[in-house]
Amino acid sequence: MGNDEELVESAMRAAENSYSPYSKFRVGAALRAADGTVYLGTNVENRSYGLAICAERSAIVRAVTDGQRRFTDIAIYSPDSVEPLSPCGACRQVLSEFMRPEARLIFVGSNGARSVHSMAEVMPFDALHDLKDR
Ligand code: THU
Repeated sequence: MGNDEELVESAMRAAENSYSPYSKFRVGAALRAADGTVYLGTNVENRSYGLAICAERSAIVRAVTDGQRRFTDIAIYSPDSVEPLSPCGACRQVLSEFMRPEARLIFVGSNGARSVHSMAEVMPFDALHDLKDR
């Protein structure tokens, strides 16, 4: 059901629409839902700097709006970082709401270098999931 290549290419495409006139740091994300649908996200900044929305959260919001609740993989890419880009702390928390510990995150750098990690690796000591079941 889809492969890494498709997801990475989608994240690269998403970064083309980045709205980042303040940081000039473009980011694209491609999130694969459990049913195989891929959702794109990009970072959307604001002149009130603290309101910037990351690419990863943009993708999550689009997908959840479409009724999705479970994601298996996400690719994250920036043409402005040689280092494969990993999500900020806030995005790790938001991704972990909908991605299981074994879900895959593909970090991609500007030269195409990749680094693949599980949700459990990037979100150790994950907590509070049982708040849902009370
Ligand atoms: N950013 C993302 O969209 N995703 C990341 O993983 C890292 C940071 C955005 C936020 C801000 O618009 C810009 O990149 C610089 O931090």
